[in-house]
Amino acid sequence: MTANRHDGDTWDLASSVGATATMVAVARARATRADHGLVNDPFAEPLVRAVGVDLLTRLATGELNPDDLTDAPDGPTASTESAGLAHNIDQVLIDAATVRTKFYDEFFLDATNAGVGQVVILAAGLDSRAYRLAWPTGTAVYEVDQPRVIEFKTRTLAELGATPTAERRAVAVDLRDDWPTALRTAGFDPARPTAWSAEGLLGYLPPEAQDRLLDTVTELSAPGSRLATESTPNPQPGDADKMEDKMKEHMRRISERWGAHSFDPDMAALVYFGERNEAAPYLSERGWALNGASIRELFAANGLAPIADDDIGLGDTLFVSGTLERATT
Ligand SMILES: C[S@@+](CC[C@H](N)C(=O)[O-])C[C@H]1O[C@@H](n2cnc3c(N)ncnc32)[C@H](O)[C@@H]1O
Repeated sequence: MTANRHDGDTWDLASSVGATATMVAVARARATRADHGLVNDPFAEPLVRAVGVDLLTRLATGELNPDDLTDAPDGPTASTESAGLAHNIDQVLIDAATVRTKFYDEFFLDATNAGVGQVVILAAGLDSRAYRLAWPTGTAVYEVDQPRVIEFKTRTLAELGATPTAERRAVAVDLRDDWPTALRTAGFDPARPTAWSAEGLLGYLPPEAQDRLLDTVTELSAPGSRLATESTPNPQPGDADKMEDKMKEHMRRISERWGAHSFDPDMAALVYFGERNEAAPYLSERGWALNGASIRELFAANGLAPIADDDIGLGDTLFVSGTLERATT
């Protein structure tokens, strides 16, 4: 388990788990400018600028490139067996955010074009889908995240003159608290089919909070509801400690490299490590019929360079989506 998290902890977009939402927006800003044309998020860069973390702004605008960070005077030396991935991991993370953004964009457009009129984006962060996707008329999009995150995004996008392309309903609540009541208060109707996403969220929840969240999503889902999330395979028995150490080492290296530029998010302290139920089989047992593709497969399908020396199993993460096929007991 992790040291720096506790029940009821809160954040803004420059601190703790909130900073991870800004990092993903950096990746979307860079992906938007890339030649591949896989992602178009015109709000990512202005949102990152507004957060005001200098290093992240310079990465988002392209003034700095991920490779430049290895040149930091007191950055780590790349000397371990995993140096290859450590060296290019920032680009890998940008590519991962690219295929992830495209996966969820397509999920939502497929669901709503098939008639699902209600969308819930859990842990929306700086996701601007409610402002940039071509939603069918009348689609209600609920964005759920911590109060300071929601308030910042709502205010900043209003100041930028952005207008939602759906009926956007912001729900400022912690997902470890009674979020279903907050969602219903905002107008959510559990009798209508819903398209749910939990993107980049589950690792920031303790294992039992993840189970509770997936149970609650299932309970609130009318037949025909859809869901998309990530599912990370547990390590082979006996490998868990080794894998956890490797992942922490990778995160430490990233944090250290960024720390040399006055931004140290201490990423390894934000995630809950240790065994947890794998989301995909857990959801299947509760009536969801899911299909999945690994990051590695999505890189190949989208023409992105394969992940080299992937000793932390980054490429094994599955993006899964599907429909609730039967009522749960
Ligand atoms: C890595 S970011 C992902 C944001 C967004 N889904 C994206 O992909 O751009 C993680 C997000 O989870 C949110 N989050 C994590 N734990 C949460 C909790 N207990 N309650 C509400 N939001 C939470 C954070 O505030 C942050 O916005």
